[in-house]
Amino acid sequence: MKHVNLPYITKITDSRIEARGIKTLLFRYPRAVDPGQFFMIWIPGVDEIPMSVSYISQDIKGITFRRVGDATTALYKLKPDDMIGIRGPYGNGFRIDGKHILFVAGGTGIATLAPAIEKAISKGIASTVVIGAKTYEEIFFEERLKNHNAKIHISTDDGSRGYKGYASDLSKQILNKKRERFNSIITCGPEPMMKKLLETCGDIPLQASLERYMKCCIGLCGQCCIGEGLRVCVEGPVFDGKTLKNIEDFGVYRRDPTGRKIRILG
Ligand SMILES: Cc1cc2nc3c(=O)[nH]c(=O)nc-3n(C[C@H](O)[C@H](O)[C@H](O)COP(=O)(O)OP(=O)(O)OC[C@H]3O[C@@H](n4cnc5c(N)ncnc54)[C@H](O)[C@@H]3O)c2cc1C
Ligand code: FES
Repeated sequence: MKHVNLPYITKITDSRIEARGIKTLLFRYPRAVDPGQFFMIWIPGVDEIPMSVSYISQDIKGITFRRVGDATTALYKLKPDDMIGIRGPYGNGFRIDGKHILFVAGGTGIATLAPAIEKAISKGIASTVVIGAKTYEEIFFEERLKNHNAKIHISTDDGSRGYKGYASDLSKQILNKKRERFNSIITCGPEPMMKKLLETCGDIPLQASLERYMKCCIGLCGQCCIGEGLRVCVEGPVFDGKTLKNIEDFGVYRRDPTGRKIRILG
């Protein structure tokens, strides 16, 4: 394989619908990738967008995404044998250690967390997982993670499955149960959810994976900067709680493609 910053052109080997509007594409990509890292996916003639790795095996990697705009709609239409270009992997990935980890996912955040949960379990680390979604039709990877013996809790905003409310509120209840002791919390999802979690996790170390609008992904353009010049594509996308506590933008502002600050709706 050529340099990590040159697109590697590869064939889609398999595709599957995971839930309403959510799809996985698998493709041959022999380079090593760590849970929490991401690719730039080039859809010829359409766009290039960041996507976390959601499946990791030696030769085959996968991405799992929600159809939201032009690029993800074009990706959604691709089938086995269609071609895409991959740059990366980029970013730092999760630190996975300790005896018991609480994983908290909101929306498509479970796509980013699933390989980290599988790695934790393969290292003998007990894994409790909160999967939060707007409604039951948008829950995915529950069976995949149950098959790995993760302890799953579900929350839905509309109460159609599990706890009625946000994943952060269910996590607070779990954290308050004295018999549940966690060495760390790993989260990916909407920033207001992750910010709430940071405010309630006390002295338990937290790692959160952030999404910011990205262009170069090699630390040059500054589009993804947060706080005092931290580049989400290079120093992130995973940041620890201590760092996030000092970033005023966290959970409050993101940037649009022109670099303008936009308030994040809570
Ligand atoms: C490091 C990283 C990892 C990601 N991993 C995943 C993943 O595993 N699965 C997944 O479904 N999505 C993931 N995303 C978000 C994904 O890149 C965007 O949803 C995608 O770029 C939207 O492109 P589009 O052309 O389809 O939509 P657009 O028309 O560009 O946008 C549609 C909507 O999505 C929002 N959006 C656009 N770009 C981003 C972005 N970078 N981050 C957040 N919201 C955005 C827009 O504000 C708009 O509301 C990730 C983003 C980053 C930065
Ligand atoms: S996307 Fe260009 S510096 Fe991060």
